[in-house]
Amino acid sequence: MATTIRLQDQVYKDALMCGDVTQLAYVDGTLVGAIMCRLEAQQGGGARLYIVSLGVLAPYRCMGIGSQLLARSLAACGGDPEITSAQLHVHCGDEEAQAWYAGRGFHVQERIPGYYKRLKPPDALLLSRALPSGTHEEQPAVAAAPAGGGGTPPGS
Ligand SMILES: CC(C)(COP(=O)(O)OP(=O)(O)OC[C@H]1O[C@@H](n2cnc3c(N)ncnc32)[C@H](O)[C@@H]1OP(=O)(O)O)[C@@H](O)C(=O)NCCC(=O)NCCS
Repeated sequence: MATTIRLQDQVYKDALMCGDVTQLAYVDGTLVGAIMCRLEAQQGGGARLYIVSLGVLAPYRCMGIGSQLLARSLAACGGDPEITSAQLHVHCGDEEAQAWYAGRGFHVQERIPGYYKRLKPPDALLLSRALPSGTHEEQPAVAAAPAGGGGTPPGS
């Protein structure tokens, strides 16, 4: 079952500062999905793409929109040798999200007990995927726009 988690406003502001790794998806001018990411320096050097949230409105799921949003965020990191991995936390009970990310090359790196304050059980899984330097994900034909780029939504 999917898990709903409320985020503080600052989380969104931080993500919008990171450029094209945050993307919005539109269908006929309607916002139907979004991936929000930020770039984080890693201890010991390098950086990771951290996926804060990914969601597609229920009526628009299983149409490839989520895959295209993820592909675009990964592509935005392409060519930067400093960005070596993509990571996110998922609730340990959210098997749908875990399976979805597993199908896209992510593996469970670590289980983190007590990560979520308001969920039962409170544990998170840290999912991770390597990003070889110079990676360029296939650019799909998606009606998507960088969230902070001031672009006009397709179809509007
Ligand atoms: C997880 C989530 C973002 C996936 O979004 P989505 O747009 O449905 O994802 P996709 O359509 O790309 O992929 C879903 C399935 O549809 C299939 N699919 C992809 N393109 C398709 C198409 N054109 N036609 C039919 N099916 C398609 C994919 O094969 C995929 O199946 P798979 O995972 O077995 O490979 C969405 O289900 C969601 O918002 N869930 C709630 C929030 C959540 O769990 N977020 C993730 C945790 S952060």
